Amino acid sequence: MKAITLLGSTGSIGTQTLDIVSQYPDQFRIVGLAAGNNVEMLAAQIRQFRPSIAAIASEDKLPALQAAIQDLNPQPILLAGIAGVIEVARYGDAETVVTGIVGCAGLLPTIAAIEAGKDIALANKETLIAGGPVVLPLVEKHGVKLLPADSEHSAIFQCLQGVPKGGLRKILLTASGGAFRDWPVEKLPEVTVADALKHPNWSMGRKITVDSATLMNKGLEVIEAHFLFGLDYNDIEIVIHPQSIIHSLIELQDTSVLAQLGWPDMRLPLLYALSWPGRIYTNWERLNLVKAGNLTFREPDHQKYPCMQLAYAAGKAGGSMPAVLNAANEQAVALFLAEKIRFLDIPRCIESVCDRHQNDNCANPSLDDILAADQWARQEVLTATKNLETHSPMISLH
Ligand SMILES: NC(=O)c1ccc[n+]([C@@H]2O[C@H](COP(=O)([O-])OP(=O)(O)OC[C@H]3O[C@@H](n4cnc5c(N)ncnc54)[C@H](OP(=O)(O)O)[C@@H]3O)[C@@H](O)[C@H]2O)c1
Repeated sequence: MKAITLLGSTGSIGTQTLDIVSQYPDQFRIVGLAAGNNVEMLAAQIRQFRPSIAAIASEDKLPALQAAIQDLNPQPILLAGIAGVIEVARYGDAETVVTGIVGCAGLLPTIAAIEAGKDIALANKETLIAGGPVVLPLVEKHGVKLLPADSEHSAIFQCLQGVPKGGLRKILLTASGGAFRDWPVEKLPEVTVADALKHPNWSMGRKITVDSATLMNKGLEVIEAHFLFGLDYNDIEIVIHPQSIIHSLIELQDTSVLAQLGWPDMRLPLLYALSWPGRIYTNWERLNLVKAGNLTFREPDHQKYPCMQLAYAAGKAGGSMPAVLNAANEQAVALFLAEKIRFLDIPRCIESVCDRHQNDNCANPSLDDILAADQWARQEVLTATKNLETHSPMISLH
């Protein structure tokens, strides 16, 4: 039985991971759980999965969590704050830590898990995008595995099984096209938060759903693919595939192309990250190609979705630039979700912050450099938008 710790247990990735654990109680058991704010759900998860340790990131929620499970016997260790989440990440005999925290908040807990010798089932892409220059050497040093749980990267990883070193030529990342794929570009200035949160194929957390609407999610995945699979940015391409049946493809040196297919269901890549290199039988709905119907493909529209190019440029610049891109995006998306800026302000914020970082880009950043770049970029977005906020509650940067 594999012992697992789950960070971000109350989110979309977290609850789907726990669905797998509850379906396969003889294969997986939970050692630790960590969440952000949601006391009620975390308490219910503690009751059901009986972890040895749990943490809530919001320190003021600890008393409520303690009260909610006070009748449990035995009691798990209960912690709070980022220090508590880090302790959960490195605790006990968990073999694999599933990183389902959203955003760069996952970076320090992921590093703690790696340093404690845990394998990482990586959903939290922001960790690798911001922290790639420090995370990858640590993975190497501690001899742990970085198993992709993002559906596209899981698809690539699955296709790569059995491909000899040097056999990979190109990666083709598929993209659904997000909420606005069929909207004319002229309507984008007016889109609302509710519009952006209507993803056509996947049910996910709010931040990644907005990232899908701007296609920044795909840009972030390009950087994630570069770090995970070592290909040059010119060999990582994006193709729009509205049906989300092909989760990504690889091209080999001889031009042979391999793909991984399935219904859009995140449990599949999560299960593979947990069972690799094994395969576990499931009774989940099997892919029926006739029911899936047409599988279509088109080129991404870079005019309509500037975030993709911003991500390629930040990835190619390397150093601390991807951390700046990621943090500016996180802050801009949070402001959009709070209805403080418009949808098209998201790429404008990111572009101007990345431009300002060019002269300060640190080629070989330490963890401190990355954390400083992250904080700087968030503050830059806040400052740029605060100045304008005084004029109108819903600002536009141009
Ligand atoms: N959802 C998907 O299908 C999907 C697919 C591919 C990749 N991913 C990636 O997986 C990650 C999670 O996405 P999601 O969609 O699951 O997000 P989500 O639904 O918003 O869930 C985020 C989780 O992170 C927790 N959290 C936030 N800050 C935390 C902190 N400082 N310490 C501990 N926990 C914290 C939240 O807790 P509370 O809710 O209690 O505040 C929640 O459990 C993201 O990096 C995303 O890009 C997601």
